[in-house]
Amino acid sequence: MSTINTENLILDAPTDAKKVLEVENLRVQYDTPRGAVRAADDVSFYLKEKEILGLVGESGCGKTTTAMAILQMVQSPGRIVGGQIRINGRNIVGIPESELRKYRWTELSLIPQGAMNSLNPVIKIKEQMADAIRAHENIKKKDLKPRILKLFNDVGLPERVYNMYPHELSGGMKQRVCIAMSIVLNPSVIIADEPTSALDVVVQRVVAQTILEVKERLGVSMIMIGHDMGLQAQMVDRVAVMYAGRLVEIGPVMKMFKNPTHPYTQLLIEAIPSIKEKKPLKVTEGLTHDLRNTPEGCIYQFRCEHVEDSCCNEPPRMYQVGIDHFVSCRHAAERARSMELLGGYHG
Ligand SMILES: Nc1ncnc2c1ncn2[C@@H]1O[C@H](COP(=O)(O)OP(=O)(O)O)[C@@H](O)[C@H]1O
Ligand SMILES: [Mg+2]
Repeated sequence: MSTINTENLILDAPTDAKKVLEVENLRVQYDTPRGAVRAADDVSFYLKEKEILGLVGESGCGKTTTAMAILQMVQSPGRIVGGQIRINGRNIVGIPESELRKYRWTELSLIPQGAMNSLNPVIKIKEQMADAIRAHENIKKKDLKPRILKLFNDVGLPERVYNMYPHELSGGMKQRVCIAMSIVLNPSVIIADEPTSALDVVVQRVVAQTILEVKERLGVSMIMIGHDMGLQAQMVDRVAVMYAGRLVEIGPVMKMFKNPTHPYTQLLIEAIPSIKEKKPLKVTEGLTHDLRNTPEGCIYQFRCEHVEDSCCNEPPRMYQVGIDHFVSCRHAAERARSMELLGGYHG
């Protein structure tokens, strides 16, 4: 009988799908008169072909900043101060704007936070769609309408929307228009920044479903930014959790829900209310801190119930605890591995 070294099996398991996007040691800061805000601090993760990666974390933790950095669209006074962003293996940080255009919208496209509210209320949808298409390609006038209707069809919008104004549309329909705009150039990666947050619960599900359908039909990879862990659970393949500018855990969604490894992920999962099991909601003490004044060592040290002296000296690196599963805490990684060896870590 052969024996399997569980630890090696976990650590060295091959990942089969191609990595379309790799973010490595990304650091973004906003230079403000009161100091530099470290909004993305040493963030590393990858996105595989045709997967949906959720990016979650409380407001202000750096999700939008990370998304904007990937597209090289961080607004002043923000700037990328370190790291790489690789698209199909090529680093695009620091390449000239003219070359960047080849990647932006064709390879990478963004549905910005609050996109549906930035549709111009006094311009018909057909004009705004036409502008989005014409910004990128020379299209013959006669081809424009069929092209727009095809995009409508891709996102489940009825043809009558063509002649309507944004103010005549429901929130869900406006969001679909924004999704349609994001797929104009057939990108391979779409980043959707809280695409369902401003919608009511029922419409959220419908728009989420539309996004899944678009993803399937076009075979794209996606990063879905959100803070509703419940919705994420139903949509994404893997989840990345950010806390105060750092990525604290990233892993397959079911593993993250069943066996959250990082104390902050555990808190997020426990905070999901359940109807079946009425439990007191977990209350946590401490505030997320000022990103201008990040501590030496682990970013979560002030809120962590397991904190030890060693946590306060240097920031933890990412430890692999499973296939495509990493956590930025040595203690959490050790706990996860011992659970795995005891057979308690169900994949
Ligand atoms: N233009 C800016 N100037 C200064 N600080 C900013 C600016 N934009 C964002 N920040 C700061 O960067 C941090 C991350 O913001 P953001 O990426 O928008 O977070 P999230 O999308 O997770 O809510 C926050 O602390 C925010 O205050
Ligand atoms: Mg945001």
